[in-house]
Amino acid sequence: SAVRHYKFNVVMTNVTKLCATKSIVTVNGKFPGPPIYAREGDTVIVKVINNVQYNVTIHWHGVRQLRTGWADGPGYITQCPIQTGQSYVYNFTLTGQRGTLLWHAHISWLRATLHGAIVILPKKKVPYPFPKPHKEKVIILGEWWKSDVETVINQAMQTGLPPNLSDAHTINGRPGPAPNCSLSSGYTLNVKSGKTYLLRIINAALNDDLFFKIANHNLTVVDVDACYTKPIKTDIIFIAPGQTTNALLTADQAPGKYSIAISPFMDTVVPVDNMISTGAVRYKGLPPFPKTTLTAMPPKNATPVVKSYLNSLRSLNSKQFPSKVPLDIDHSLFLTIGVGMNPCATCVNGTKSVGDINNITFVMPTTAILQAHYYGIGGVFTDDFPGNPPMPFNYTGSVPTNMQTMNGTKVYRVAYNSTVQVVLQGTSFIAPESHPTHLHGHNFYTVGSGSGNYDPEKDPKSFNLVDPVERNTMSVPTAGWIAIRFLADNPGVWFLHCHLEVHTSWGLKMAFLVDDGEGPTQSLPPPPSDLPKC
Ligand code: C2O
Repeated sequence: SAVRHYKFNVVMTNVTKLCATKSIVTVNGKFPGPPIYAREGDTVIVKVINNVQYNVTIHWHGVRQLRTGWADGPGYITQCPIQTGQSYVYNFTLTGQRGTLLWHAHISWLRATLHGAIVILPKKKVPYPFPKPHKEKVIILGEWWKSDVETVINQAMQTGLPPNLSDAHTINGRPGPAPNCSLSSGYTLNVKSGKTYLLRIINAALNDDLFFKIANHNLTVVDVDACYTKPIKTDIIFIAPGQTTNALLTADQAPGKYSIAISPFMDTVVPVDNMISTGAVRYKGLPPFPKTTLTAMPPKNATPVVKSYLNSLRSLNSKQFPSKVPLDIDHSLFLTIGVGMNPCATCVNGTKSVGDINNITFVMPTTAILQAHYYGIGGVFTDDFPGNPPMPFNYTGSVPTNMQTMNGTKVYRVAYNSTVQVVLQGTSFIAPESHPTHLHGHNFYTVGSGSGNYDPEKDPKSFNLVDPVERNTMSVPTAGWIAIRFLADNPGVWFLHCHLEVHTSWGLKMAFLVDDGEGPTQSLPPPPSDLPKC
């Protein structure tokens, strides 16, 4: 295995989109940022140098970070931010994963423009468990604001109001043909008739679940979140923020130009920008200006499309890549997740939006929890995160009268190598909503899911303990639940949060603290000497 060195210079860069130019935070002047290419087993060393006025951290989303928790990246969870003029070297090894992941800033809303692909190829001479593609293409989906994104979130947090919606979705940084702006053309994927391509699709949008479709073509999903799946043939992909999907595309239609379209999914009254953004698949050898074949997108509230797509995913579970679903459970948690309103004297309407897990709105500490844990610094966090809500209620039914959440910086503590089951129950506070929930430092298996309230007597009977999909981010359906299982084999502090950035900002987050096991191979090593200080 190799060691791969990267240098990430965080700088301000002028970028023109939707016919307007603004200065954005980028890595090395690129939007989307530079990809990281490596093979399974390789070590990746990235020196991040902060040359902007903002505090920066970078998270390697989905990278297991086995015993390298200091390199995980969420601000104030595993590290203090890299301040202006400072640098930090992230050093980690890619173990037991192949596919596509993403890196992104993990502080405030900087990930709007600070993100890029992580491509993990199999070890040399190890083939894919699917036919070798002719070529591979990274496709990053994003969101674009005409205004300054940090201003958008800072205003929202001060006023207590929801932040402004984005102005466009992007495919590899390009919004595609936009109303009132003829200059922009969309991303184009050139293909050869008869050939098969591996698309490495990443949803790097801040707040939007997305549908992805290519006119007249089917896709075969083979990997999600860097975990192989049984091949699934589909005409549409659903992808939530933070999720990645590898899919095969065969250019098997009449030579032509076919629309690639993305559109948002939102099955409640929560506003979402309703635009369809497009690019194109273009067969080689066409005459100039071919007509584009368009595709119809599902309505934004197409819950059944999302359900049947997500339910169809299964881990590959082959001899070479067996599923390792925990069967005996040491910790069984029931976590309600939702958004609500708290009183706020300084806010515009006297209230502010909050997110909560088991009625606790997570408050970011001012020093990193992992540091506090490692050095035994008191007063930063407590390890009494409750495994159950304060009181049972009809989670997806009528809202209890006392909806106010409690503030806290609490973690749930588990022993090294213990097995954890978490039932994530969506609630109907304010508006029920789909929550793509991400766990750091681990993959988990989604053994069950359903609508309404989880039934602890009945629902476990239909859990899939054979080949459930394995991933690092999974949607908790609107007014529904999922049950996930993981092995806590990674000592450190691991964030769990809704990957809709607006909900993270509102406090829909918590962390697991996985204690050291016995001896150096089961313990978190000391931090690197350049770990930033708060
Ligand atoms: Cu991709 Cu904690 O995030």
